[in-house]
Amino acid sequence: MPVTSQARLAPAARPAAGIPSGTCPAGLLRMVRAEVRHGLDWQRTADRVAAALRGRLPEPGALLPAALRRGDPACYQSHLLHAEPDGSFSVAAMVWLPGQQTPVHDHVAWCVTAVLQGTEYEEIFTLTADGQALRRVTRNENSPTTVCGFAPPGDIHRVRNTGDGVAVSMHIYGADISRLGNSIRREYTLPVRA
Ligand SMILES: [Fe+2]
Repeated sequence: MPVTSQARLAPAARPAAGIPSGTCPAGLLRMVRAEVRHGLDWQRTADRVAAALRGRLPEPGALLPAALRRGDPACYQSHLLHAEPDGSFSVAAMVWLPGQQTPVHDHVAWCVTAVLQGTEYEEIFTLTADGQALRRVTRNENSPTTVCGFAPPGDIHRVRNTGDGVAVSMHIYGADISRLGNSIRREYTLPVRA
């Protein structure tokens, strides 16, 4: 059920009803499905899906038509490409103009991200012991072919397009995004302590 959404406040915001957008190649879905069906825990599932995708990533044009790869000055865009009928995973493509970024957030389930075009800068945070602030744990600059798998807890992050051109990334979530609207568990507006 391909749909297009405009993520104005959060990654993969609730999709607009039934607007056709991109597609997810059948071979990619078969790879993901084969790993998910092992029924392992979230981190191992994310690791296996990430490993399966490395070196086998699609071109951005295989997921989204040119009109959807231009980006939107209003906000980065999230296009839901596939929701597995049994609810076990979803695939989305995100398009970012230079400088566009997510809020600090974490997720409801495991996630695998793959940069297909451009550069995405990721900051990873942890909550302080009192839960009143965030502390930056690490930063990564992810270029095309970079594939990362992660799972809650410990997945608080923010992603930004730090390049000069449009960035495109593919996101696979261990949840039914067509039902949930997005993969976000919580957005964080806490101060960041050094
Ligand atoms: Fe995220």
